[in-house]
Amino acid sequence: MAKARTAYVCTECGADSSKWQGQCGACGAWDTVSEIVLEPASAAKASSPARRGGWAGKVEAPQVTALKDVRHHEDERVSTGIGEFDRVLGGGLVEGAVVLVGGDPGIGKSTLLLQAMASMSATLPGLYVTGEESLAQVAGRAARLGLPLDGLSALAETGVENILGHAAKLRPRVIVADSVQTLWTESMTAAPGSVGQVRESAARLVRYAKETGTAVFLVGHVTKEGGIAGPRVLEHMVDAVLYFEGDSGSRFRVLRAFKNRFGAVNELGVFAMGDKGLKEVPNPSAIFLSGATRQPGSCVMVTREGTRPLLVEVQALVDASPLSNPRRVAVGLEQNRLAMLLAVLHRHGGVMVGDQDVFVNVVGGIRVQETAADLPVLLAVLSSLRDQPLADKTIAFGEVGLSGEIRPVPNGEERLKEAATHGFKRAIVPKANAPRAGAYKGMEVVAVERLSDAISAASD
Ligand code: TYD
Ligand code: MG
Repeated sequence: MAKARTAYVCTECGADSSKWQGQCGACGAWDTVSEIVLEPASAAKASSPARRGGWAGKVEAPQVTALKDVRHHEDERVSTGIGEFDRVLGGGLVEGAVVLVGGDPGIGKSTLLLQAMASMSATLPGLYVTGEESLAQVAGRAARLGLPLDGLSALAETGVENILGHAAKLRPRVIVADSVQTLWTESMTAAPGSVGQVRESAARLVRYAKETGTAVFLVGHVTKEGGIAGPRVLEHMVDAVLYFEGDSGSRFRVLRAFKNRFGAVNELGVFAMGDKGLKEVPNPSAIFLSGATRQPGSCVMVTREGTRPLLVEVQALVDASPLSNPRRVAVGLEQNRLAMLLAVLHRHGGVMVGDQDVFVNVVGGIRVQETAADLPVLLAVLSSLRDQPLADKTIAFGEVGLSGEIRPVPNGEERLKEAATHGFKRAIVPKANAPRAGAYKGMEVVAVERLSDAISAASD
């Protein structure tokens, strides 16, 4: 018998390494590298569904084919019945797609998928596999949410071979595996939840999806402790990776596409969790404003994540620091970028915050990853430092360069339009994004080229 091989994988980010190490070389996390036993090559071959012609029924040997003759289903999208979910998927669910839905425990993954399955099962038979909750719990939740359940089957099972056996008989078009961390396959001796089991179990489901054209949703909990593999170890195997974000205190949830072979990345879907489950928020712009935008330290920006502009509020608190090494804390933004912006503010704006603690937060638990947040962050910092609010109904966006220049961002007009629609009166934006007239639909547009221009525009 062939010898089993071992590999070392980080449970945080999924990076492989050839030997065990205390710190993951790829993501820097400590004590997350764990050993996995790979099945011997001969065993893998024997258990491969393609060779066995197992669950999927007739399996053809791979052939070389002219690419133009290959049948594909990219254009045939099925609506999940939830508009915001369709948006994040890139316009609906594609046949045979494998979608990873990740997020903290309790954020709403099971609720969203149950709702989507219930809505799709009228036209596409679905199989909801639960490894965490009992069937009674799932049924109870569905009943409480008043979901239509025709065509939807459920299975409380964690063994992948059994799941696929049932799927072969039932032939569902959509499968949910909730959660992937509870799955295990007979071909491995490692414990359920370990990197090896999670990867191999997911790989089986991916193979099944591709062979049969069944769409598969894999639910993955973001885990804090190293013993259980996080969803990141699966990112490279699936077609789309969607993560739930949001404050635990807020009822709003944001679903973001981090990877999508069928649509735009960074696309956002916005939901509100209520007593009837997750409701979509089709026009989410205003919900990320705190209502206190006339306070010092607040600046509203128009971000454009994915394909839609969104108004969000950036807040800053700048306060004299008792520490010799003042704190720079960014929530919802990149920490290093904040440090860089403060250096630019000092060097090119002549504003000194070296002895101050600086806290920056994006309201509503949302994450802003684009550089258009640079200018709003600096204006919020400045406003807090001076204890002066920005002029009423002002928005800003723009990238700040290391030499103090304000650089344009994509889709400027669309952002201006969103702000004007929501009644904003003044916009501080990069010169190349500003209309020549100096105004847009009744909104005054201040074009700035350098940080110093922006600082004086904010002081008006
Ligand atoms: P759930 O979908 O079970 O989260 P996950 O699968 O991501 O772990 O969501 C559970 C949370 O959502 C729980 O805190 C209760 C809340 N919730 C509501 O507020 N309203 C509802 O109608 C439902 C079904 C859940
Ligand atoms: Mg759940």
